[in-house]
Amino acid sequence: MRITLLVSFLLCFYYCIYITHATPKCLEDQQTLLLQFKNNLTFDPETSIKLSVWYNTTDCCQWVDSVICDNEGHVIALYLDNELISGGFNNSSSLFSLQHLQKLDLSYNNFNSSFPSGFTKLAKLTTLELTNCHFYGTLPNSISNLTYLTYLKLSDNDLSGAIPSSLFTLPSLEEIYLDNNQFSKLDEFFNVSSFLLRNLDLRNNYISGPFPISIFQLKSLSELDLSFNKFNGSLHLYKFLELRNLTTLDISYNNLFLYGNPKNVDPSSFPAFSSLMLASCNLKIFPDFLINQSTLETLDLSDNKIQGVLPNWIWKLEGLLELNISHNFFTELEGPLTNLTSILMYRVDIHHNLLQGPLPAFSDRARYLDYSINRFSSAIPQDIRNHLSLAFFLSLAHNNLHGSIPDSLCGFRDFQLLDLSFNNFSGTIPSCLMTMTGTIKVLNLGRNNLQGPIPDTFSDSCTLQTLNLNGNLLHGPVPKSLARCSELEVLDIGKNQFDGHFPCFLQNIPTLSVLVLRNNKFYGTLRCSNSKNPWNMIQIMDIAFNNFCGKLPGKYFRTMKKMWHDNHNVGLSFIQLDSDELHYQDSVTVVSKGQQFELVKILTIFTTIDFSSNHFQGVIPKDLIELKALYVLNFSNNAFSGKIPSTIGNLKQLESLDLSNNSLVGEIPLQLASLSFLSYLNLSFNHLVGKIPTGTQIQSFQASSFEANYGLYGPPLTETPNGTRQDELHPQPASGRLASSIDWSFLSVELGFVFGLGIIITPVMLWKQWRVKYWKLVDKILCWMLSRMYLEYATDRGQTYTVLRW
Ligand SMILES: *[C@@H]1O[C@H](CO)[C@@H](O)[C@H](O)[C@H]1NC(C)=O
Ligand SMILES: *[C@@H]1O[C@H](CO)[C@@H](O)[C@H](O)[C@H]1NC(C)=O
Ligand SMILES: *[C@@H]1O[C@H](CO)[C@@H](O)[C@H](O)[C@H]1NC(C)=O
Ligand SMILES: *[C@@H]1O[C@H](CO)[C@@H](O)[C@H](O)[C@H]1NC(C)=O
Ligand SMILES: *[C@@H]1O[C@H](CO)[C@@H](O)[C@H](O)[C@H]1NC(C)=O
Ligand SMILES: *[C@@H]1O[C@H](CO)[C@@H](O)[C@H](O)[C@H]1NC(C)=O
Ligand SMILES: *[C@@H]1O[C@H](CO)[C@@H](O)[C@H](O)[C@H]1NC(C)=O
Ligand SMILES: *[C@@H]1O[C@H](CO)[C@@H](O)[C@H](O)[C@H]1NC(C)=O
Ligand SMILES: *[C@@H]1O[C@H](CO)[C@@H](O)[C@H](O)[C@H]1NC(C)=O
Ligand SMILES: *[C@@H]1O[C@H](CO)[C@@H](O)[C@H](O)[C@H]1NC(C)=O
Ligand SMILES: *[C@@H]1O[C@H](CO)[C@@H](O)[C@H](O)[C@H]1NC(C)=O
Ligand SMILES: *[C@@H]1O[C@H](CO)[C@@H](O)[C@H](O)[C@H]1NC(C)=O
Repeated sequence: MRITLLVSFLLCFYYCIYITHATPKCLEDQQTLLLQFKNNLTFDPETSIKLSVWYNTTDCCQWVDSVICDNEGHVIALYLDNELISGGFNNSSSLFSLQHLQKLDLSYNNFNSSFPSGFTKLAKLTTLELTNCHFYGTLPNSISNLTYLTYLKLSDNDLSGAIPSSLFTLPSLEEIYLDNNQFSKLDEFFNVSSFLLRNLDLRNNYISGPFPISIFQLKSLSELDLSFNKFNGSLHLYKFLELRNLTTLDISYNNLFLYGNPKNVDPSSFPAFSSLMLASCNLKIFPDFLINQSTLETLDLSDNKIQGVLPNWIWKLEGLLELNISHNFFTELEGPLTNLTSILMYRVDIHHNLLQGPLPAFSDRARYLDYSINRFSSAIPQDIRNHLSLAFFLSLAHNNLHGSIPDSLCGFRDFQLLDLSFNNFSGTIPSCLMTMTGTIKVLNLGRNNLQGPIPDTFSDSCTLQTLNLNGNLLHGPVPKSLARCSELEVLDIGKNQFDGHFPCFLQNIPTLSVLVLRNNKFYGTLRCSNSKNPWNMIQIMDIAFNNFCGKLPGKYFRTMKKMWHDNHNVGLSFIQLDSDELHYQDSVTVVSKGQQFELVKILTIFTTIDFSSNHFQGVIPKDLIELKALYVLNFSNNAFSGKIPSTIGNLKQLESLDLSNNSLVGEIPLQLASLSFLSYLNLSFNHLVGKIPTGTQIQSFQASSFEANYGLYGPPLTETPNGTRQDELHPQPASGRLASSIDWSFLSVELGFVFGLGIIITPVMLWKQWRVKYWKLVDKILCWMLSRMYLEYATDRGQTYTVLRW
């Protein structure tokens, strides 16, 4: 009994002490300052969780989760991240009078103000976190007042100007994150006292000039990320010998010329890296020192100019898990490659090189293998399943592979992407491949010599998003079981020998946005039985070069909601594979402005209706005019009759219009002249009459756009009806735009697409500065990935466009 009493007494004693210790009473001035701070903030009391308990009736030290006090009742830490605050905070805020603050986190709010220098009044700060706060302006020099600061994170803002060198005089700083801002300058800094600095992240800014050698004074650096900036000049890798503790280095995507192979330097004297990212550094020689990097886990040498042989020892680096040597000029993988199945590497990206010989089979652990765009020439080994049982991504596209597609490719548990396109595979499609569609999202067998029908064995739980069989010798109808693929977005079976009726059952797939049946032997009308929302999401419908006939049902176009609005919301259509957050680009071949080209994942902004070279008849349906977001319309080579609807002027985005080789009558509607983006027009071989409307750029088209309409006159044809024929006109160059280029003017319209393979881009499209940065990144990635293509800025009619040429 006494013992219990004693125990309870002790417990109570301890508890009481604990209570008084844990909840000091808030000092009145602190409470007042906090409430003033709150009163001026703009926030929604419904959604803000922490701020909603800030009242004058409770002690501020009890505002759990957001305020921490010291024993005397001073506020020493404030956490208001993710409170959806949307303003009301600026330089004169009472927050800056909380002199005892040591930790402050206001991340993920939208203050939308210039960076308040008031922060530098908080002299006792050790941690300052302001990620994604929408601060702009410069970082004040007075930041050097924060002498106790150990952790500074200002990522994802719009800060610009120079990074103050005084920052590096702070004696306690251990981590600096200024990534994803718009800083443009980093001066050399002297009098460094940041001897404790471990992490420096300046990724994705606009910092230019030579590589700042002052950085080599930061001896305790362990992680350094300067990627996606504009540093230029040359740099020797051996400089990094000075940073003994460096484990992570990323200087990718600058304008640096990196010299990788220092003479007279012991390779083992380099710091022991775990991650080395040297993409796009103009490296010419494979860095030999890597041979001693036994702790290296991630190596990225992509997008350099390295030639020759990839040394065999690279596979023997025990720690290496991810290797990317894509976009180089490697010609050979040094052998023997026989005993490599036991290595741990799970990600091998060797695409876009000049590698030849038989397909090497690598690690049993491989999850991600990209061997595409090389010169491998062999069949797929029958035992591939034994090696790649864990793979979820396998691309062998653009090689010289042959033989049949082995059944052993089927049955991988996690397979999500299989791309065998642009090879010489022959034989039939194994039916088990279609059965696998319970996990597979992307199946691309396009541009091979495959024969036979598509197996009608699509899985009941089909998750397929892209099916591309374009350019084979396949025949038969579109299999009915494809309707089970309720997530299908892209179906491209063009350039085959498919026949049968129009696959009406596809109209019920709610996600279908690309349907390419081009160049087959389909026949009959487009009439389908009623469906609630047919072709809801469609944006590319290409059924050209078939034997379709009959009148066009107007309702087709009425339900194509995606194309209704010229400013539809940006649904990014890249496919996200579950693992590793990888994205895959879809590509689809379309024809625009008389040119055939391959669209690589630009799907959401590219809208096409191509019904050309069939036997359609009747009038052009008026409902077509609802499609305000249409870029390309091709009805050529049919038997359309009647007039061109005058409402065609509603298709404000139209860039390419081809109605040639029909039986259209009447005059060209004046409204056609108001289509300001129109850069390709073909109305030839019809029965149009009257004067060609004079308007913005109609006259800039060649006479051939109007030829063989014997009643048509006016520039660019002859001035009078039935005068000399246009054959006598001297030929003009194409109307101001290169024939081999596509003008992605819609890029500047700020509609979105994402290129990205292995790179994660968060498409934050809400704020201008973000968008600018986003495009900058997209441009960079574009140039990096698609070396066959290049971007160029062109100015036309006072507007600057990004033009993708090849
Ligand atoms: C608390 O604030 C309300 C108004 O916001 C005020 O009416 C009240 O007097 C305040 N109470 C105290 C104790 O300060
Ligand atoms: C700062 O914000 C307060 C409250 O929103 C406002 O009253 C004041 O005018 C602002 N001061 C400046 C300099 O913007
Ligand atoms: C903020 O106020 C300080 C003085 O308190 C002043 O020096 C500084 O220029 C101001 N900064 C901004 C961005 O208004
Ligand atoms: C904030 O609000 C208080 C009243 O709640 C006011 O006295 C103060 O001037 C306001 N401005 C700033 C910048 O804190
Ligand atoms: C920031 O404020 C300006 C006006 O002061 C406004 O035009 C802009 O849209 C705001 N930006 C954000 C992201 O809230
Ligand atoms: C920074 O410190 C200096 C001297 O310690 C002081 O004069 C100056 O006012 C401080 N600046 C700010 C913004 O607090
Ligand atoms: C380094 O600091 C000393 C004294 O603090 C000063 O005299 C000198 O000018 C500084 N050097 C540079 C290059 O800033
Ligand atoms: C490097 O790291 C080791 C171990 O973490 C540490 O003892 C040493 O002080 C560091 N070197 C520098 C220059 O900071
Ligand atoms: C680096 O870029 C700057 C402009 O940003 C330029 O003036 C300088 O000449 C460039 N240096 C080299 C070596 O290209
Ligand atoms: C560096 O690697 C080479 C080849 O693997 C080896 O002979 C040498 O002993 C290694 N040096 C050190 C210091 O590990
Ligand atoms: C393959 O490697 C394993 C260990 O990684 C080794 O035991 C075996 O002897 C090697 N086989 C050949 C043929 O080199
Ligand atoms: C124009 O010329 C064609 C033959 O060149 C002729 O058939 C037609 O009747 C003529 N039309 C007019 C309006 O003169």
